[in-house]
Amino acid sequence: MKILAIESSCDETSAAIVEGAKTDPAVKIIANNTASSLPTHSKTGGIIPEAAAREQVKFIIPVIKKTLEDANLSFSSQNPPDLDAIAVTIGPGLIGSLLVGVETAKTLSFIWNKPIIPVNHLIGHIYANFVEQTTDYRLQTTVDSRPSTVLASIEFPAIVLVVSGGHTDLILLKNNGKITWLGGTRDDAAGECFDKIGRLLKLPYPGGPNIEKMALKGNQKAVNFPRPMIGSDNFDFSFSGLKTAVLREVKDKKLNKKENADICASAQKAIIDVLIRKTLKAAKRYNVKSILLSGGVAANQKLRDEFKSSIRRFEEASPLGGVNSQLSINFCAPQKFLCTDNAAMIGAAAIYNCEKKSWKDIQVNPELYFD
Ligand code: KG4
Ligand code: ZN
Repeated sequence: MKILAIESSCDETSAAIVEGAKTDPAVKIIANNTASSLPTHSKTGGIIPEAAAREQVKFIIPVIKKTLEDANLSFSSQNPPDLDAIAVTIGPGLIGSLLVGVETAKTLSFIWNKPIIPVNHLIGHIYANFVEQTTDYRLQTTVDSRPSTVLASIEFPAIVLVVSGGHTDLILLKNNGKITWLGGTRDDAAGECFDKIGRLLKLPYPGGPNIEKMALKGNQKAVNFPRPMIGSDNFDFSFSGLKTAVLREVKDKKLNKKENADICASAQKAIIDVLIRKTLKAAKRYNVKSILLSGGVAANQKLRDEFKSSIRRFEEASPLGGVNSQLSINFCAPQKFLCTDNAAMIGAAAIYNCEKKSWKDIQVNPELYFD
């Protein structure tokens, strides 16, 4: 199955041609292009929904056109491209941004007479783990857990941690499409917490990657920030208290570079500790074979590294673990360019959860969540 996927839920405009079948271990990217309106939002220190929607309008056709050209597919109504369907993000997200992608997909569906596969953006993030890592795309990134040529199937059941700018959720994935929501944030998402702390420290937007960079020069033990809900008997999160603690730490102070770096490293460590502890707790409770990371925050190298070492310690400490370990949990994180918003992950989600519809039955849903 070959599909055109479109993602426009927030500040990225992305199109991809992906190919695969539900029985494949991963889908293949034939072409993938993403335009970002980040430079516009950096000036305002955050995303203004109307500005994001205007940028979507500007980018959507050039991005789709370039993607079809990269895949050697035609763009005309007389000669529709050789595609089985169009996948598009219908939510959650900003309504203005979503509408641009969805209405474009509906128009192409009408002109080309191709069905539409509606995709939940959050499920898209999960399926970034099911995108093959081709040589060309690997060049854009650094470390990764699964080599491209010997790509093994992800073993189920799996726990997925979705950590993005708008969401922090723990999901039990029993099999493809069998999704159970276990818990989520009660206030700020992990990415939102990074962004708000970044703003307090006057770092450029988005805070996440800039805090990660600053943290490299800081001492993560310098400030003992709270780890909200780390020991709670559920799979929920809360990050607003951490942001308030950072505010107290920086308020009315003139901090030097080293002190700022210490705050970045300490706050980042507090976020990571909570995310890992809760994920491992869920992995133990549901006796899973894999842990998958997804969403923009999954691009954080320190988070990826600490996950790997924590899973190793967790396996060793288990009665089934140790030298003759019978307990083995695979850890998987998408390549970094597939962690932040992109259309390839939307295409992958569509292939593994294929529900073809007529353009007449497609509507945006900015509040869409896990069922
Ligand atoms: O998934 P995404 O691109 O958009 C949403 O669906 O929200 O995630 C964006 C979020 C932002 O909050 C950004 O600060 C965070 O991901 N992020 C990071 C890193 N790269 C992006 N957070 C921590 N470390 C990073 N390297
Ligand atoms: Zn996202």
